[in-house]
Formats: sequence, structure tokens, C-alpha cells
Amino acid sequence: MSAEATARGSTQLYIRLLSHVRPYKGVFAVAIVAMIFTALTETSFAALLKPIMDRGFVGPEPDFIRLIPWLLIAVLLARAFSGFVASYSMAWVGRRIVYDLRQRMFESLVYLPSNFYDDRSSATLVSKLIYDVEQASTATTDALTLMIKDTLTVIALLGWMLYLDWQLTLVFVLFAPLVAYGVKIAADKFRKTSERIQDSVGGIGHVAKEAIIGQRVVKTFGGQAYEIDGFRRANNRNRQQSMKKAVVSAAMYPMVLLFVGAAIALVIYLAVNRPAPSSISAGTFVSYLGAVLMIMSPLKHLAKVNEKIQMGVAAANSIFTLIDEPQEQDAGVKTIDRARGHIQFRDVSFKYPRSKQNVLENLSFEIQPGQVIALVGSSGTGKSTIASLLLGFYRPDRGEIILDGFDLRHVSLKSLRRNTAIVTQETILFDDTIRNNIVYGYDGEVSESRLRQAVEAAHVAEFADRLAHGLDTLVGEQGVRLSGGQRQRISIARALFKNAPILVFDEATSSLDSVSERLVREATEKLLADRTTLVIAHRLSTIEHADRILVLEGGRILESGRHHELIANKGSYARLYESQMLGQGRLAV
Ligand SMILES: Nc1ncnc2c1ncn2[C@@H]1O[C@H](COP(=O)(O)OP(=O)(O)O)[C@@H](O)[C@H]1O
Ligand SMILES: [Mg+2]
Repeated sequence: MSAEATARGSTQLYIRLLSHVRPYKGVFAVAIVAMIFTALTETSFAALLKPIMDRGFVGPEPDFIRLIPWLLIAVLLARAFSGFVASYSMAWVGRRIVYDLRQRMFESLVYLPSNFYDDRSSATLVSKLIYDVEQASTATTDALTLMIKDTLTVIALLGWMLYLDWQLTLVFVLFAPLVAYGVKIAADKFRKTSERIQDSVGGIGHVAKEAIIGQRVVKTFGGQAYEIDGFRRANNRNRQQSMKKAVVSAAMYPMVLLFVGAAIALVIYLAVNRPAPSSISAGTFVSYLGAVLMIMSPLKHLAKVNEKIQMGVAAANSIFTLIDEPQEQDAGVKTIDRARGHIQFRDVSFKYPRSKQNVLENLSFEIQPGQVIALVGSSGTGKSTIASLLLGFYRPDRGEIILDGFDLRHVSLKSLRRNTAIVTQETILFDDTIRNNIVYGYDGEVSESRLRQAVEAAHVAEFADRLAHGLDTLVGEQGVRLSGGQRQRISIARALFKNAPILVFDEATSSLDSVSERLVREATEKLLADRTTLVIAHRLSTIEHADRILVLEGGRILESGRHHELIANKGSYARLYESQMLGQGRLAV
């Protein structure tokens, strides 16, 4: 990207960020009025110096002298009040922006396609929600405050200076381009380092999160030193980048001070060495000097504006990139109320964006409504991928998936997902009660009998009833307070409770012992009688009763048929079955 394009992009980003102020223009207007008032009161300090000198000291007027303290107090009070209103209303707008942007980001996040999540670390995304948004808002409101209040103060003071002595003031103004140039050079630096600081915050979160989630592995495998080292690097990167910004930021003030100081010195020099110095009154001179000195502080602040704006641009870039990220594509217009559950895979080929070769290769099979189809095969052959395609997490590259006669591409994702339930290979539980994990996503009155049915069938009741709070027991983050098998039973209950016509069990009982597995299977069989069920299983004993078994190898179907047919075939299924039975001691040698 060329430098110019970057600059234009920055402006657009900043304007877009500022557009989030629009809904709150009322409060924002109040803030601006208060700022105008603050700038005016600031200037009236300088303006007051003139009559104080002329009428208080040079030609004393007793009545006016008595008035001076009151005048000062009045100006101070006005300043204090307007200052409060300005800060408060600006903060109000700022917090609103944080709220809005965060909400928008999250709302965008939950609709992003699975691909998006494959490529990013969760901690980085979380840090965008927490850190970047905060940066953006501070940058907007602070920059606006500085820009408006300080610009107004500078303008008002300059106005007063022009009124007092326009020639001197013009000399002063000549220094402005110098300051502006310095500020411009710093701009690029600020934005780049701000972006790197944001990234580094995400990096810190990423290392920390992995170490926290994996704490047992870290301990068992003695990974502490490794994690500490990784964290040190992420932490240090953040420090280094922050220091880079600090250097430029710290150099800004003195530089501006230097230029402004030089301008003031020149102005004083010219004022004193003018051919006819007597033409101005002492009051005018003191007031002019006062204004010149007072203008230093807002000018110094304005040097900071750029830094804030660049921070805002960097944050806006990250925020809007996420908000604009294309949502899960849903071109489907066909809605299916309740699917019959007839599923066809026709020559489906698929590869993940990152995989080298096809994960599924010309895969075709059909599931009749109400059938139980089992997928078996060694790990990595694409079983879970088939489930993901069926649920519309990814789209086939070639071929089509047909549900009840409709190409899945034309079926709206919402209605597809309403008709499907899945027990994923990795159990996903939310940090909530067992009950809420089971009825998750269900809108409407939860029927206790239906809940009970799911709870019984998945054998959740067996352990939940022994807990002090029963189904209202909190499971902890990712269900840490439960055993692996208990977690799996809850997610089975969740799938059963949903009562969808199509069910996918992806190694759903892998954490259960074979006795519990059999119990769960027998209990669920009743519930699944009229559902189309796709069972992915390692343990072949669980799928002996399936209507059809597909043996998958390298993304292709090697064999298919009923259990006894496949055994009779003496193919790979038969060999696999034999070795598993041997392992369990169910088959004599
Ligand atoms: N999100 C992903 N991104 C890239 N490759 C993936 C992804 N998920 C799985 N794979 C790859 O696809 C292949 C099939 O995976 P999967 O369907 O999970 O196998 P399994 O049969 O064990 O369920 C594997 O080689 C795996 O490395
Ligand atoms: Mg799998």
C-alpha cells in the first residue's frame, strides 16, 4: 500500500470511528458548548489582565480594584462548571461508543464462519473486544476533546492577541507550520506502533490462556519454564512496542515547547525593540504576554492529538476489520420446517483451505429417514468433516449434499441447524448449570417431562440426582467440575432435548465405559426411533445395530453394509472388529 493510500485509509477509518458519535449528537453538542465556554473563560483570564494593569495599577480606579477578586472568582466558577460538563458529557459519549462497538463486534463474531475461527486464536479475538475497543474510544473522545477545546482556546487566545497587536501575532503564527511538520512525521510512527501494541496484547492473552487451560499438562510435563519463557517474550514485545511509542510521545512535548518558546522569545524581542514602544499601554503588553504564555499549554496538548488519533485509527482498523468480516454465507432461501431426514451425499469432495489434498474424495452415500448410519474408520479419515459438512459449517468444493430433496446450499442455515443436533467430538459445555447446558439455545417454555426424558436417556440423572443441587449444579468453565464421561452425557442430553429430526453423534460416547455406553445407547434408541442418526464411533460394539455401516479410509468409502454383511465380507471392517473384540476378550483366540 502506498503512503498516500494509507493516509487516505486512515482518514476514512477515523471518520468511520467518529460516525459512531452520531447517535449521541445531543450530548455531544452539550459537550461542545461546554468546551466553547471553557475556551472563552480561559481567554478571559488573559483579557482580564489588561484592565487589571491599566485601571488597577497604571491609573488606579478604586471601584474597579474592589471588583477584581469577584471578577476572578466569577471566571473561575464558570470555568469549573463548564469544565465539569464538558468532561462528563464527553465521557458519557465515550462509554457509549465502547458499548456500541463491543456489542457490534460480538454480534459479528457469533455469526462468523468456522473458517474464520480455524485461522485465529481465541485470545486475540478476546483482546480485540477488550483492549482495542477501549483504545478506540479513548482515542476518539480524548482526541475530540483536545481538538475542540484546545483548538478553540488557541483560536480565542489568538483572536485576543490579534486584537491587541496583529503584527506581533502574525510573527507568532509563522512558527505554526514548523510544529505541524513535526507532528506529521510522528503520525505514521504512532499508528504502526499502536497496531503492534494491540497485537502484542493479543499475544500475551494467547500465551496466558493456553497455560491456564492446559495447567495440568503444564505441570505434569514440567512445561512451566517453557511457558514462562513464552510469556516473557510476549510480555517483552509489548513492553518494547510501548516504549517505541513512548519515545515519540515523549519527544513531542519538548519539541513543541521548543518551537513555541522560540516564537515567544522572538515576539518579546520584537515587542521590546519596536521603534515606538510607547504606543501600547502596560496593560496591553502584560495581557498580550499572558495570552502568549497561556497559549503554550493548549498547543502542547494539540501535539498529543495526533498520537490519540493514530491510536484510534489503529484500533478502528482492527475493530472494523472484524465487524466487516463476511458472515457465514447463507444464500439459502428454502426453509424446512421439520425435515424428514433424508440425506444424500453426491460425489462430495472437500478440502480445508489449509489442507494440501482433499479430505473427502468423491464421497457418495444415502441415509433414509429414520435410519441409523454409522461411520467408522481410523482417525483423520474425515469422519468429523462429514458431520461438519452436513451441519453446514463448511461447504463442499464439489458435489452436493441433498436434504429432503433440496441441495443444502439452497436451504437456509437457520432451518438446517434447527433440524439438526450434534454431540461434538470435543465436549463443549458452558459455565452454567447442568440444566442450562441441556436446554441451551431452546427458546420457549422448557417442558420438565421432555427435559427429564433427555436427562434419563443420556444417563445424566444417574449422577445429577446425587449432586446437592441436582440439575442446577454449576459445571464450571468447560465443565471442569465433572468427569469426562459426565460431560459427554450432558452434551448427549442436550442433543436429545433439542428433539431435532437429524442427529449426529461424533464419538459421543468415547469417554464412557462400555457398560455406561450400552446403557446410554439402549435408552437413546427409543428416543431416536424416528430420527435420522449419524453415529461416528471408534468402538465398533456400539454400532453393531446400525442400519448401515460405512467404513471410511482416506476420505473414501471402503466398504458399506450391515454389521453381519461386513463381517461376512472379511474385509477391513471384519479385521478391525476382530482386533477390538480380541482386545476386550470377547472373542476366543
Ligand atoms: N479445521 C481444519 N482445518 C484444516 N484441516 C483440518 C481441520 N479439521 C480437520 N482437518 C484435517 O482433515 C482431516 C480429517 O479430519 P477429521 O474429519 O476430523 O477426521 P476424523 O475422521 O478423525 O474425524 C485430518 O487430516 C485433519 O488434519
Ligand atoms: Mg473426528
